[in-house]
Amino acid sequence: MNKTNENELVKLQDVWKIFSMGNTEVQALRGINLSIHQGEILSIMGPSGSGKSTCMNMIGCLDRPTKGNVIINGRNTATMNENELAAFRNKTVGFVFQQYFLLPNLSVLENVMLPLRYQRIPIEERRERAEEALVRIGLADRLTHKPNELSGGQRQRVAIARATVTKPALILADEPTGALDSETGHSVLDLFQEINAEGTTIVIVTHDQEIGRTAPRMVRIKDGLLSED
Ligand SMILES: Nc1ncnc2c1ncn2[C@@H]1O[C@H](COP(=O)(O)OP(=O)(O)OP(=O)(O)O)[C@@H](O)[C@H]1O
Ligand SMILES: [Mg+2]
Repeated sequence: MNKTNENELVKLQDVWKIFSMGNTEVQALRGINLSIHQGEILSIMGPSGSGKSTCMNMIGCLDRPTKGNVIINGRNTATMNENELAAFRNKTVGFVFQQYFLLPNLSVLENVMLPLRYQRIPIEERRERAEEALVRIGLADRLTHKPNELSGGQRQRVAIARATVTKPALILADEPTGALDSETGHSVLDLFQEINAEGTTIVIVTHDQEIGRTAPRMVRIKDGLLSED
């Protein structure tokens, strides 16, 4: 039985992740408990190798725990098969990474349209919604550019437009400002705050104290264990 609060979007219950390579084992997560509520903006901080990305992969259902439960919207993901999980991820979660992962041969507009194709949205609507997302983040004059014709900050904004165009309940950003200078990094954070103000739950992973502190709630991971301030 998994009783959850109405507005609890994600719940990690005693989540362990152990990577085995030959004879060696890495305990990347050692019993993490975390509740993320709808509309929240949360930062996960911790040094390199502490388990932040592994934790993010659990929250976003990109990987499964070795032990423990990941419950999303009251549903235990352990009961879902890979197809269900992929469909669920596509509908509920938007991902933003430090390295952007834009497709180099597609234009900015086409990159942002892509997640809508996986949702089988008709092409005209895809175009309209992608354009709208890009206009909103100030890239109206870059629609036909290729990613390599943009600055780092602009690329990250395209990645954010791509993550938000499906209107996911949850945005997971792993070191989203890691490759940006401090000023550009802050404008990306401002953008997350605007998106959050519209009700989207946002989780930002960072090892940068200053970035982490901009979030109203901050948790820390160290050696696979989580603590809350
Ligand atoms: N696929 C994997 N196979 C084996 N070990 C892994 C794997 N992924 C992560 N690890 C190990 O798990 C631990 C946590 O890694 P993780 O990537 O979560 O750290 P992180 O906090 O995100 O670090 P960084 O700030 O450098 O990105 C590390 O010791 C890492 O070597
Ligand atoms: Mg990481």
